[in-house]
Amino acid sequence: MDSSTDNPRLDYDESFREIVDTYASLGYPHDMLEAWTIPQVDGRALVGFVEDVNPKNVLEVGTYVGMTSMLLAKHTAPDTHIHTVDPSLPLRTEIDSMKGSYHGCDVDIRAQDLGKKAADRLGLSGKITFHRGGFSVGQTFATRNVDPTLAVEVVGPEVCRQHGPFDFVFVDGLHYHDAVLSDLELAAAHLEPGGTIALHDVIGMWGSNVRAAVSAFLTEHPDFVFWHPPLADLYRSVGVLRHIPEGAQREISGTAPEPEFLTDEAKLKHFATVVVNTVKPANAVILGDGCERLRELLVELGVEVDVEPTRRYDLCVCLDTSPATSEDAADELVQRCVFASDTVVFGSTPPGEFGAARPNERPIAAWVRRFLAHGYVFHDTIRPFFEPMTYANIPNRIFGVTTSDLLDLYVVRKEIDSDRDVSHAFLADQLGEKEARCEQLSLQRLFEEIVGRGALEREAELRERLASAETDLASHSQELERVNSELARLQQERPALLANAARTPELEKRVSQLNQQAAKLEHQRHMLELTCHHLQQPWRVRMAGAAGRRFPRLAAFVKRALGKT
Ligand SMILES: C[S@@+](CC[C@H](N)C(=O)[O-])C[C@H]1O[C@@H](n2cnc3c(N)ncnc32)[C@H](O)[C@@H]1O
Repeated sequence: MDSSTDNPRLDYDESFREIVDTYASLGYPHDMLEAWTIPQVDGRALVGFVEDVNPKNVLEVGTYVGMTSMLLAKHTAPDTHIHTVDPSLPLRTEIDSMKGSYHGCDVDIRAQDLGKKAADRLGLSGKITFHRGGFSVGQTFATRNVDPTLAVEVVGPEVCRQHGPFDFVFVDGLHYHDAVLSDLELAAAHLEPGGTIALHDVIGMWGSNVRAAVSAFLTEHPDFVFWHPPLADLYRSVGVLRHIPEGAQREISGTAPEPEFLTDEAKLKHFATVVVNTVKPANAVILGDGCERLRELLVELGVEVDVEPTRRYDLCVCLDTSPATSEDAADELVQRCVFASDTVVFGSTPPGEFGAARPNERPIAAWVRRFLAHGYVFHDTIRPFFEPMTYANIPNRIFGVTTSDLLDLYVVRKEIDSDRDVSHAFLADQLGEKEARCEQLSLQRLFEEIVGRGALEREAELRERLASAETDLASHSQELERVNSELARLQQERPALLANAARTPELEKRVSQLNQQAAKLEHQRHMLELTCHHLQQPWRVRMAGAAGRRFPRLAAFVKRALGKT
């Protein structure tokens, strides 16, 4: 059915504004809601996908107050229905779990109750059913971050059984790896063939969690393809998983930028240096097209480089630049690599980098299996040198990662005898490394966390010193006051003073001493205040706190690293 005939396309920006104004008229300005609702740019992408699909039955995981439910309802046909699932906790609980601000709003209202009010005002109530509870897990952000006993009832399986299958699903619920994965599994089990699952936060702060779950999902579901915006597009973070029915074309249309890794001098130089330092090859061969500059750089670094293998080398570099679209061609590519060397630096394109990708996109698992058959094992030792990536709310940019060349870039080494039986458990470990790698993007914060934590500890220590300096200052000031008033009294009583002449110089000396001491303490207090102020720079404190909450394992590691119990 052509969506334009039964649902003329609305102007997205206008409907976004209308929805925002509706919440504002209910007492919830956008400033307050935007901390946890879809940004305008992502809403546009979501609406684009849903209008393309023109679904009849939509499932949403993660309503919050319903901004995206309203968008989905407005931009679908009149007979389309939206089922949205959320624990619907009081806003106070949600905001506290994010350490957010109430903005002076009534935060005792439950999330979906606000959504229902907005739907009424927008005339969308008939299109949306709000289901209260966890979708595939009972955990929420509040159980993770505040109180584990706040778990909610899981209602997703029943909602899916009663109202599925769905032709469009939007997943924007609990953003941890295991929760996203189980949401995807449940949603996929109730998806129409050829259906679409859109996800929020595939890039940016939560991106590594969400993409790790998508990777794990793709490993088990080869009948899905994944598209997401280039990693550099921090402010566009809606991705889609599309089910490809048997025999259909495995493509998602969309324009992505040119691959830039092999033409970006700075990145290529950095890459060549990292490779040479990691592998220390005397000679190497590069397989694939378009790598002339890389060859020159390796030669400059003292490596003898061939472009066609004629013998065995210390290193083979294969960045997936030659088309290997068929399964046979992929087998052949791996055979050429293992023929050339025991050590291969292998770059491949994961699903989802359309346009920027080589034609060769495959889940990493497909390559791991092929190399493993020859006894080669994957190691994630190069890509981390290109991180940290730039995240939206982290100020320092160290290296921008933009293409799939870096997403799936590994050192692959011959480590096991190819005759040996490769057990499934071993294979699972190898594939698990892929997920671990995605999760370990959080390592990029380790440095900042250490710095931040150090800052916090130092701040606490300085605050103590400041407090004791203030106590000292107070007692010295009291003493000064007492001596001053005694001096004043003595000066008034001049005759008596003359009689007490011997005492006056002694008192004046004491006053001068106390004045000096007070000035010194004042200076000390000023310096301590400056240091505290510096340490209180909001990003450091926020980041350290947030990193500790978000990465409890890392926080524990940092604690140990800092020698704490
Ligand atoms: C980022 S918000 C959703 C925002 C919404 N899609 C929008 O843009 O308007 C995430 C929501 O997922 C909810 N959530 C947390 N745990 C969940 C679970 N187990 N199942 C479903 N939703 C969950 C949170 O309570 C929160 O309301």
